[in-house]
Amino acid sequence: MAQNWTPGSWRQKPIQQVPEYPDAAALAATEATLATYPPLVFAGEARRLKKQLANVAEGNAFLLQGGDCAESFLEHGADNIRDFFRAFLQMAVVLTYGAQLPVVKVGRIAGQFAKPRSSNVEVQDGVSLPSYRGDIINGIEFNEASRIPSPERQLDAYRQSAATLNLLRAFAMGGYANLENVHQWMLGFIKDSPQADRYRKLADRISETMDFMKAIGISADSNPSLRETDFFTSHEALLLGYEEALTRVDSTSGDWYATSGHMLWIGDRTRQLDHAHVEYFRGIKNPIGLKCGPSLTPDNLIGLIDALNPANEAGRLTLICRFGHDKVADSLPKLIRAVEKEGRKVVWSCDPMHGNTITLNHYKTRPFERILSEVESFFQIHRAEGTHPGGIHIEMTGKDVTECTGGARAVTADSLSDRYHTHCDPRLNADQALELAFLLSERMKSGRDEKRLAIANA
Ligand code: PEP
Ligand code: CO
Repeated sequence: MAQNWTPGSWRQKPIQQVPEYPDAAALAATEATLATYPPLVFAGEARRLKKQLANVAEGNAFLLQGGDCAESFLEHGADNIRDFFRAFLQMAVVLTYGAQLPVVKVGRIAGQFAKPRSSNVEVQDGVSLPSYRGDIINGIEFNEASRIPSPERQLDAYRQSAATLNLLRAFAMGGYANLENVHQWMLGFIKDSPQADRYRKLADRISETMDFMKAIGISADSNPSLRETDFFTSHEALLLGYEEALTRVDSTSGDWYATSGHMLWIGDRTRQLDHAHVEYFRGIKNPIGLKCGPSLTPDNLIGLIDALNPANEAGRLTLICRFGHDKVADSLPKLIRAVEKEGRKVVWSCDPMHGNTITLNHYKTRPFERILSEVESFFQIHRAEGTHPGGIHIEMTGKDVTECTGGARAVTADSLSDRYHTHCDPRLNADQALELAFLLSERMKSGRDEKRLAIANA
Protein backbone atom coordinates (compact mmCIF):
# COMPACT_ATOMS: atom_id res chain seq x y z
CA MET A 1 0.00 0.00 0.00
CA ALA A 2 1.17 3.58 -0.70
CA GLN A 3 3.11 4.99 2.25
CA ASN A 4 1.58 7.67 4.48
CA TRP A 5 -1.49 7.76 2.34
CA THR A 6 -5.14 8.00 3.32
CA PRO A 7 -8.17 8.81 1.16
CA GLY A 8 -7.97 12.32 2.69
CA SER A 9 -4.20 12.93 2.69
CA TRP A 10 -4.63 15.16 -0.41
CA ARG A 11 -6.14 17.77 1.94
CA GLN A 12 -2.64 18.58 3.24
CA LYS A 13 -1.37 19.49 -0.23
CA PRO A 14 -1.70 22.58 -2.41
CA ILE A 15 -4.59 22.22 -4.84
CA GLN A 16 -5.63 23.73 -8.19
CA GLN A 17 -9.10 24.23 -9.64
CA VAL A 18 -10.93 24.05 -6.34
CA PRO A 19 -14.44 25.55 -6.13
CA GLU A 20 -15.20 28.05 -3.37
CA TYR A 21 -18.13 26.62 -1.45
CA PRO A 22 -19.69 29.35 0.70
CA ASP A 23 -20.80 26.94 3.45
CA ALA A 24 -18.03 24.57 4.60
CA ALA A 25 -20.30 22.78 7.07
CA ALA A 26 -22.88 22.00 4.39
CA LEU A 27 -20.11 20.66 2.15
CA ALA A 28 -18.78 18.41 4.93
CA ALA A 29 -22.31 17.15 5.67
CA THR A 30 -22.83 16.23 2.00
CA GLU A 31 -19.49 14.42 1.85
CA ALA A 32 -20.45 12.50 5.01
CA THR A 33 -23.74 11.49 3.38
CA LEU A 34 -21.97 10.37 0.21
CA ALA A 35 -19.62 8.26 2.30
CA THR A 36 -22.63 6.18 3.42
CA TYR A 37 -23.82 5.53 -0.16
CA PRO A 38 -23.07 2.27 -1.95
CA PRO A 39 -20.10 2.16 -4.33
CA LEU A 40 -20.98 2.72 -8.00
CA VAL A 41 -18.45 0.20 -9.28
CA PHE A 42 -16.61 -2.52 -7.52
CA ALA A 43 -12.94 -3.35 -7.21
CA GLY A 44 -13.10 -6.59 -9.18
CA GLU A 45 -14.35 -4.67 -12.21
CA ALA A 46 -11.53 -2.12 -11.95
CA ARG A 47 -9.04 -5.00 -11.79
CA ARG A 48 -10.62 -6.54 -14.88
CA LEU A 49 -10.20 -3.26 -16.76
CA LYS A 50 -6.60 -3.01 -15.56
CA LYS A 51 -5.91 -6.44 -16.99
CA GLN A 52 -7.40 -5.42 -20.32
CA LEU A 53 -5.30 -2.26 -20.31
CA ALA A 54 -2.20 -4.31 -19.56
CA ASN A 55 -2.99 -6.10 -22.79
CA VAL A 56 -3.05 -2.70 -24.53
CA ALA A 57 0.29 -1.73 -22.95
CA GLU A 58 1.76 -4.93 -24.36
CA GLY A 59 0.55 -4.08 -27.87
CA ASN A 60 -2.21 -6.69 -28.03
CA ALA A 61 -5.34 -4.55 -27.76
CA PHE A 62 -6.62 -1.05 -28.47
CA LEU A 63 -8.31 1.39 -26.10
CA LEU A 64 -11.38 3.35 -27.17
CA GLN A 65 -12.29 5.98 -24.60
CA GLY A 66 -14.92 8.61 -25.26
CA GLY A 67 -18.05 10.49 -24.31
CA ASP A 68 -19.22 13.93 -23.28
CA CYS A 69 -16.86 16.68 -22.29
CA ALA A 70 -19.28 17.29 -19.43
CA GLU A 71 -22.41 15.32 -18.66
CA SER A 72 -25.37 17.51 -17.80
CA PHE A 73 -28.33 17.11 -15.47
CA LEU A 74 -30.70 18.57 -18.05
CA GLU A 75 -29.76 16.17 -20.85
CA HIS A 76 -29.94 13.05 -18.72
CA GLY A 77 -32.22 10.57 -20.44
CA ALA A 78 -32.43 7.08 -21.88
CA ASP A 79 -32.31 8.26 -25.51
CA ASN A 80 -29.07 10.13 -25.06
CA ILE A 81 -27.42 7.22 -23.30
CA ARG A 82 -28.65 4.73 -25.90
CA ASP A 83 -27.53 6.86 -28.85
CA PHE A 84 -24.13 7.37 -27.28
CA PHE A 85 -23.78 3.64 -26.64
CA ARG A 86 -24.78 2.78 -30.21
CA ALA A 87 -22.31 5.24 -31.72
CA PHE A 88 -19.64 3.87 -29.41
CA LEU A 89 -20.39 0.24 -30.37
CA GLN A 90 -20.24 1.16 -34.05
CA MET A 91 -16.83 2.72 -33.57
CA ALA A 92 -15.65 -0.27 -31.57
CA VAL A 93 -16.75 -2.80 -34.16
CA VAL A 94 -15.07 -0.82 -36.96
CA LEU A 95 -11.86 -0.68 -34.94
CA THR A 96 -11.97 -4.34 -33.95
CA TYR A 97 -12.39 -5.29 -37.58
CA GLY A 98 -9.57 -3.06 -38.79
CA ALA A 99 -7.08 -3.77 -36.04
CA GLN A 100 -8.05 -7.40 -35.54
CA LEU A 101 -7.35 -6.69 -31.92
CA PRO A 102 -9.69 -6.61 -28.92
CA VAL A 103 -11.01 -3.10 -28.29
CA VAL A 104 -11.17 -2.05 -24.64
CA LYS A 105 -14.28 0.09 -24.22
CA VAL A 106 -14.24 2.92 -21.72
CA GLY A 107 -16.89 5.68 -21.66
CA ARG A 108 -16.39 9.22 -20.43
CA ILE A 109 -19.70 8.76 -18.72
CA ALA A 110 -21.55 8.04 -15.46
CA GLY A 111 -19.44 10.52 -13.47
CA GLN A 112 -17.91 13.01 -15.93
CA PHE A 113 -19.26 16.16 -14.31
CA ALA A 114 -16.46 18.34 -12.90
CA LYS A 115 -14.58 20.71 -15.22
CA PRO A 116 -11.27 22.49 -14.82
CA ARG A 117 -11.44 26.04 -16.22
CA SER A 118 -8.76 28.30 -17.62
CA SER A 119 -10.29 31.32 -15.86
CA ASN A 120 -12.06 31.65 -12.51
CA VAL A 121 -14.49 34.16 -13.94
CA GLU A 122 -16.64 34.50 -17.02
CA VAL A 123 -17.48 37.95 -18.38
CA GLN A 124 -20.60 38.59 -20.47
CA ASP A 125 -21.64 42.12 -21.53
CA GLY A 126 -19.48 43.63 -18.82
CA VAL A 127 -20.90 41.35 -16.09
CA SER A 128 -18.38 39.11 -14.35
CA LEU A 129 -19.44 35.89 -12.58
CA PRO A 130 -17.66 32.78 -11.30
CA SER A 131 -17.01 30.32 -14.16
CA TYR A 132 -19.21 27.30 -14.68
CA ARG A 133 -17.36 24.25 -13.30
CA GLY A 134 -19.67 21.41 -14.27
CA ASP A 135 -23.11 20.37 -13.01
CA ILE A 136 -21.64 18.61 -9.98
CA ILE A 137 -20.43 22.04 -8.75
CA ASN A 138 -22.59 24.90 -10.08
CA GLY A 139 -25.13 25.79 -12.76
CA ILE A 140 -24.39 26.79 -16.36
CA GLU A 141 -27.03 29.59 -16.40
CA PHE A 142 -25.32 32.95 -16.39
CA ASN A 143 -26.70 34.43 -13.18
CA GLU A 144 -25.24 34.91 -9.74
CA ALA A 145 -27.33 32.33 -7.88
CA SER A 146 -26.64 29.52 -10.33
CA ARG A 147 -22.88 30.08 -10.29
CA ILE A 148 -22.56 29.64 -6.52
CA PRO A 149 -21.14 26.15 -5.83
CA SER A 150 -23.75 23.97 -4.15
CA PRO A 151 -22.85 20.71 -2.33
CA GLU A 152 -26.33 19.23 -2.99
CA ARG A 153 -25.31 18.88 -6.62
CA GLN A 154 -22.87 16.12 -5.64
CA LEU A 155 -25.79 13.95 -4.52
CA ASP A 156 -27.57 14.58 -7.84
CA ALA A 157 -24.40 13.68 -9.74
CA TYR A 158 -24.11 10.47 -7.74
CA ARG A 159 -27.74 9.53 -8.50
CA GLN A 160 -27.38 10.35 -12.18
CA SER A 161 -24.18 8.30 -12.38
CA ALA A 162 -25.91 5.34 -10.73
CA ALA A 163 -28.87 5.50 -13.12
CA THR A 164 -26.65 5.89 -16.19
CA LEU A 165 -24.42 3.04 -15.11
CA ASN A 166 -27.45 0.84 -14.53
CA LEU A 167 -28.67 1.37 -18.09
CA LEU A 168 -25.18 0.90 -19.55
CA ARG A 169 -24.80 -2.39 -17.73
CA ALA A 170 -28.17 -3.50 -19.11
CA PHE A 171 -27.16 -2.51 -22.66
CA ALA A 172 -23.77 -4.21 -22.38
CA MET A 173 -24.96 -7.43 -20.79
CA GLY A 174 -28.67 -7.67 -21.64
CA GLY A 175 -28.55 -8.27 -25.39
CA TYR A 176 -28.25 -4.81 -26.98
CA ALA A 177 -24.53 -5.29 -27.63
CA ASN A 178 -25.14 -8.69 -29.24
CA LEU A 179 -23.10 -8.78 -32.47
CA GLU A 180 -26.22 -10.12 -34.20
CA ASN A 181 -27.54 -6.53 -33.84
CA VAL A 182 -24.63 -5.00 -35.76
CA HIS A 183 -27.02 -3.57 -38.39
CA GLN A 184 -29.39 -2.13 -35.83
CA TRP A 185 -26.70 0.04 -34.24
CA MET A 186 -26.84 2.34 -37.23
CA LEU A 187 -28.33 5.61 -36.07
CA GLY A 188 -31.23 7.05 -38.08
CA PHE A 189 -29.49 10.22 -39.22
CA ILE A 190 -26.36 8.34 -40.27
CA LYS A 191 -28.34 6.24 -42.74
CA ASP A 192 -27.86 8.80 -45.52
CA SER A 193 -24.34 9.89 -44.63
CA PRO A 194 -21.17 8.93 -46.52
CA GLN A 195 -20.24 6.62 -43.62
CA ALA A 196 -23.44 4.57 -43.98
CA ASP A 197 -22.35 2.50 -46.97
CA ARG A 198 -19.01 1.65 -45.44
CA TYR A 199 -20.63 0.65 -42.20
CA ARG A 200 -23.33 -1.41 -43.93
CA LYS A 201 -20.70 -3.34 -45.90
CA LEU A 202 -18.75 -4.10 -42.78
CA ALA A 203 -21.91 -5.11 -40.91
CA ASP A 204 -22.83 -7.43 -43.81
CA ARG A 205 -19.47 -9.19 -43.55
CA ILE A 206 -19.86 -9.60 -39.80
CA SER A 207 -23.40 -10.95 -40.22
CA GLU A 208 -22.18 -13.43 -42.84
CA THR A 209 -19.43 -14.60 -40.50
CA MET A 210 -21.97 -14.95 -37.69
CA ASP A 211 -24.21 -17.06 -39.95
CA PHE A 212 -21.28 -19.26 -40.84
CA MET A 213 -20.35 -19.71 -37.19
CA LYS A 214 -23.95 -20.51 -36.31
CA ALA A 215 -23.93 -23.20 -38.99
CA ILE A 216 -20.97 -24.86 -37.31
CA GLY A 217 -22.53 -24.60 -33.88
CA ILE A 218 -21.09 -21.36 -32.46
CA SER A 219 -23.97 -19.01 -31.69
CA ALA A 220 -24.56 -15.93 -29.55
CA ASP A 221 -26.83 -18.03 -27.33
CA SER A 222 -23.98 -20.28 -26.35
CA ASN A 223 -21.16 -17.68 -26.45
CA PRO A 224 -21.28 -14.73 -24.07
CA SER A 225 -18.46 -12.99 -25.98
CA LEU A 226 -20.76 -12.65 -29.00
CA ARG A 227 -23.77 -11.37 -27.12
CA GLU A 228 -22.21 -9.30 -24.31
CA THR A 229 -19.42 -6.79 -24.01
CA ASP A 230 -17.35 -5.28 -21.23
CA PHE A 231 -18.08 -1.61 -20.97
CA PHE A 232 -16.27 0.51 -18.36
CA THR A 233 -16.78 4.05 -17.04
CA SER A 234 -14.29 6.85 -16.50
CA HIS A 235 -14.08 10.53 -15.61
CA GLU A 236 -11.64 13.23 -14.57
CA ALA A 237 -11.40 12.96 -10.78
CA LEU A 238 -11.23 16.69 -10.22
CA LEU A 239 -13.53 17.13 -7.24
CA LEU A 240 -11.52 15.29 -4.62
CA GLY A 241 -14.01 15.64 -1.73
CA TYR A 242 -16.53 13.67 -3.79
CA GLU A 243 -13.89 11.11 -4.77
CA GLU A 244 -12.70 10.69 -1.18
CA ALA A 245 -16.25 9.97 0.00
CA LEU A 246 -16.51 7.18 -2.57
CA THR A 247 -13.05 5.71 -1.90
CA ARG A 248 -13.47 2.36 -0.22
CA VAL A 249 -11.41 -0.59 0.98
CA ASP A 250 -11.87 -3.68 -1.15
CA SER A 251 -12.66 -6.51 1.22
CA THR A 252 -10.98 -9.17 -0.91
CA SER A 253 -7.58 -7.46 -1.31
CA GLY A 254 -7.56 -4.89 1.51
CA ASP A 255 -6.63 -2.22 -1.08
CA TRP A 256 -8.24 1.20 -1.56
CA TYR A 257 -10.30 1.75 -4.69
CA ALA A 258 -12.11 4.75 -6.08
CA THR A 259 -15.64 3.46 -6.59
CA SER A 260 -17.04 6.47 -8.50
CA GLY A 261 -15.93 4.93 -11.82
CA HIS A 262 -13.67 2.18 -13.13
CA MET A 263 -10.91 4.43 -14.45
CA LEU A 264 -10.11 7.97 -13.31
CA TRP A 265 -7.75 10.43 -14.87
CA ILE A 266 -5.78 13.51 -13.81
CA GLY A 267 -6.33 16.59 -15.96
CA ASP A 268 -3.57 18.54 -17.65
CA ARG A 269 -4.10 21.46 -15.26
CA THR A 270 -3.88 19.45 -12.02
CA ARG A 271 -0.92 17.13 -12.56
CA GLN A 272 1.66 18.95 -10.37
CA LEU A 273 3.80 16.30 -8.68
CA ASP A 274 3.56 17.65 -5.12
CA HIS A 275 -0.09 18.70 -5.31
CA ALA A 276 -3.39 17.24 -4.14
CA HIS A 277 -4.53 15.34 -7.23
CA VAL A 278 -1.35 13.32 -7.64
CA GLU A 279 -1.46 12.63 -3.89
CA TYR A 280 -5.00 11.22 -4.11
CA PHE A 281 -4.29 9.13 -7.21
CA ARG A 282 -1.14 7.48 -5.91
CA GLY A 283 -3.14 5.64 -3.24
CA ILE A 284 -6.00 4.19 -5.25
CA LYS A 285 -5.55 0.92 -7.11
CA ASN A 286 -7.78 1.62 -10.10
CA PRO A 287 -6.35 1.94 -13.57
CA ILE A 288 -5.66 5.66 -14.01
CA GLY A 289 -4.97 8.14 -16.77
CA LEU A 290 -2.68 11.15 -16.90
CA LYS A 291 -3.31 13.93 -19.39
CA CYS A 292 -0.06 14.98 -21.06
CA GLY A 293 0.00 18.44 -22.64
CA PRO A 294 2.75 20.49 -24.31
CA SER A 295 4.13 21.81 -21.01
CA LEU A 296 5.02 18.34 -19.71
CA THR A 297 8.78 17.68 -19.86
CA PRO A 298 10.31 14.18 -20.03
CA ASP A 299 11.72 14.63 -16.49
CA ASN A 300 8.33 15.75 -15.16
CA LEU A 301 6.75 12.73 -16.74
CA ILE A 302 9.21 10.23 -15.27
CA GLY A 303 8.71 11.84 -11.84
CA LEU A 304 4.96 11.46 -12.19
CA ILE A 305 5.29 7.84 -13.32
CA ASP A 306 7.50 7.16 -10.26
CA ALA A 307 4.76 8.54 -8.02
CA LEU A 308 1.79 7.01 -9.78
CA ASN A 309 3.07 3.63 -10.86
CA PRO A 310 6.09 2.78 -8.68
CA ALA A 311 5.64 -0.97 -9.23
CA ASN A 312 5.70 -0.49 -13.03
CA GLU A 313 2.50 -2.46 -13.34
CA ALA A 314 1.21 -2.74 -16.93
CA GLY A 315 -2.35 -1.41 -17.26
CA ARG A 316 -2.12 0.87 -14.24
CA LEU A 317 -1.21 4.04 -16.15
CA THR A 318 -2.52 5.41 -19.44
CA LEU A 319 -0.79 8.49 -20.83
CA ILE A 320 -3.44 10.53 -22.62
CA CYS A 321 -1.55 12.79 -25.02
CA ARG A 322 -3.26 16.05 -26.00
CA PHE A 323 -0.71 18.28 -27.63
CA GLY A 324 -2.45 19.81 -30.66
CA HIS A 325 -1.97 18.93 -34.32
CA ASP A 326 0.88 21.44 -34.64
CA LYS A 327 2.72 20.45 -31.44
CA VAL A 328 2.51 16.67 -31.35
CA ALA A 329 5.57 16.14 -33.57
CA ASP A 330 7.65 18.25 -31.21
CA SER A 331 6.27 16.99 -27.89
CA LEU A 332 5.55 13.29 -28.24
CA PRO A 333 8.82 11.68 -29.44
CA LYS A 334 10.84 12.94 -26.47
CA LEU A 335 8.28 11.62 -24.00
CA ILE A 336 8.20 8.23 -25.73
CA ARG A 337 11.99 8.03 -25.68
CA ALA A 338 12.18 8.88 -21.98
CA VAL A 339 9.58 6.25 -21.11
CA GLU A 340 11.27 3.63 -23.29
CA LYS A 341 14.72 4.43 -21.91
CA GLU A 342 13.43 3.94 -18.35
CA GLY A 343 11.56 0.79 -19.33
CA ARG A 344 8.20 2.04 -18.04
CA LYS A 345 5.05 0.15 -18.97
CA VAL A 346 2.32 2.52 -20.08
CA VAL A 347 -0.60 2.72 -22.46
CA TRP A 348 -0.15 5.51 -25.01
CA SER A 349 -3.45 7.09 -25.93
CA CYS A 350 -4.20 10.08 -28.17
CA ASP A 351 -6.68 12.79 -27.18
CA PRO A 352 -6.89 14.79 -30.42
CA MET A 353 -9.54 17.14 -28.98
CA HIS A 354 -8.06 19.30 -26.24
CA GLY A 355 -5.07 20.71 -28.12
CA ASN A 356 -7.17 21.69 -31.14
CA THR A 357 -9.80 24.08 -29.81
CA ILE A 358 -10.32 27.40 -31.60
CA THR A 359 -13.02 30.09 -31.60
CA LEU A 360 -15.14 30.73 -34.72
CA ASN A 361 -18.17 33.05 -34.81
CA HIS A 362 -17.98 33.20 -31.00
CA TYR A 363 -18.26 29.40 -30.76
CA LYS A 364 -15.58 27.20 -29.27
CA THR A 365 -14.98 24.60 -31.97
CA ARG A 366 -12.49 22.06 -33.28
CA PRO A 367 -11.76 21.57 -36.98
CA PHE A 368 -12.19 17.89 -37.81
CA GLU A 369 -9.14 17.96 -40.11
CA ARG A 370 -6.93 19.03 -37.19
CA ILE A 371 -8.31 16.21 -35.08
CA LEU A 372 -7.51 13.72 -37.86
CA SER A 373 -4.11 15.28 -38.34
CA GLU A 374 -3.15 14.85 -34.68
CA VAL A 375 -4.29 11.21 -34.76
CA GLU A 376 -2.30 10.57 -37.94
CA SER A 377 0.83 12.10 -36.42
CA PHE A 378 0.35 10.09 -33.24
CA PHE A 379 0.27 6.86 -35.26
CA GLN A 380 3.23 7.82 -37.43
CA ILE A 381 5.35 8.80 -34.47
CA HIS A 382 4.66 5.54 -32.66
CA ARG A 383 5.46 3.53 -35.78
CA ALA A 384 8.74 5.42 -36.12
CA GLU A 385 9.62 4.88 -32.44
CA GLY A 386 8.59 1.22 -32.51
CA THR A 387 5.96 1.68 -29.79
CA HIS A 388 2.27 0.80 -29.75
CA PRO A 389 -0.25 3.58 -30.50
CA GLY A 390 -2.56 2.08 -27.91
CA GLY A 391 -5.73 4.09 -28.01
CA ILE A 392 -7.76 7.21 -28.52
CA HIS A 393 -9.62 9.45 -26.10
CA ILE A 394 -12.33 11.59 -27.65
CA GLU A 395 -15.24 13.87 -26.85
CA MET A 396 -18.24 12.57 -28.78
CA THR A 397 -21.98 12.12 -28.68
CA GLY A 398 -24.48 9.87 -30.41
CA LYS A 399 -26.43 12.95 -31.47
CA ASP A 400 -26.33 14.94 -34.68
CA VAL A 401 -24.76 18.02 -33.09
CA THR A 402 -22.87 20.78 -34.91
CA GLU A 403 -19.98 21.53 -32.58
CA CYS A 404 -16.82 20.54 -34.48
CA THR A 405 -16.41 21.87 -38.03
CA GLY A 406 -15.70 19.64 -41.03
CA GLY A 407 -16.23 15.96 -41.64
CA ALA A 408 -17.62 14.25 -44.73
CA ARG A 409 -21.02 15.88 -44.19
CA ALA A 410 -19.34 19.15 -43.45
CA VAL A 411 -20.31 21.29 -40.49
CA THR A 412 -19.38 24.87 -41.47
CA ALA A 413 -18.54 27.89 -39.34
CA ASP A 414 -22.01 29.23 -40.12
CA SER A 415 -23.84 26.03 -39.18
CA LEU A 416 -22.21 25.76 -35.73
CA SER A 417 -25.22 27.54 -34.22
CA ASP A 418 -27.70 24.94 -35.60
CA ARG A 419 -27.29 22.28 -32.91
CA TYR A 420 -24.56 23.45 -30.57
CA HIS A 421 -25.55 21.76 -27.29
CA THR A 422 -22.38 20.98 -25.36
CA HIS A 423 -22.03 22.11 -21.76
CA CYS A 424 -18.32 22.58 -22.19
CA ASP A 425 -16.08 21.58 -25.09
CA PRO A 426 -17.22 20.80 -28.67
CA ARG A 427 -17.83 17.10 -29.35
CA LEU A 428 -17.66 14.98 -32.48
CA ASN A 429 -21.13 14.10 -33.72
CA ALA A 430 -21.92 10.44 -34.43
CA ASP A 431 -21.08 10.86 -38.11
CA GLN A 432 -17.67 12.40 -37.41
CA ALA A 433 -16.94 9.80 -34.73
CA LEU A 434 -17.61 6.99 -37.19
CA GLU A 435 -15.48 8.67 -39.85
CA LEU A 436 -12.63 8.86 -37.35
CA ALA A 437 -13.08 5.16 -36.53
CA PHE A 438 -12.77 4.23 -40.22
CA LEU A 439 -9.61 6.27 -40.56
CA LEU A 440 -8.11 4.64 -37.49
CA SER A 441 -9.08 1.22 -38.67
CA GLU A 442 -7.20 1.82 -41.93
CA ARG A 443 -4.11 2.96 -40.05
CA MET A 444 -4.21 -0.07 -37.80
CA LYS A 445 -4.75 -2.40 -40.71
CA SER A 446 -1.69 -1.01 -42.47
CA GLY A 447 0.32 -1.29 -39.25
CA ARG A 448 -0.75 -4.91 -39.01
CA ASP A 449 0.26 -5.61 -42.61
CA GLU A 450 3.67 -3.98 -42.04
CA LYS A 451 4.24 -6.15 -38.98
CA ARG A 452 3.32 -9.31 -40.92
CA LEU A 453 5.64 -8.33 -43.73
CA ALA A 454 8.48 -7.71 -41.29
CA ILE A 455 7.94 -11.14 -39.71
CA ALA A 456 7.79 -12.81 -43.14
CA ASN A 457 11.03 -11.11 -44.22
CA ALA A 458 12.89 -11.80 -40.98
C1 PEP B 1 -11.11 17.17 -20.56
O1 PEP B 1 -10.73 16.02 -20.82
O2 PEP B 1 -12.29 17.56 -20.70
C2 PEP B 1 -10.09 18.17 -20.16
C3 PEP B 1 -10.39 19.25 -19.48
O3 PEP B 1 -8.87 17.84 -20.61
P1 PEP B 1 -7.40 18.40 -20.29
O4 PEP B 1 -7.16 18.17 -18.85
O5 PEP B 1 -6.56 17.55 -21.18
O6 PEP B 1 -7.40 19.84 -20.69
CO1 CO C 1 -13.17 18.68 -22.61
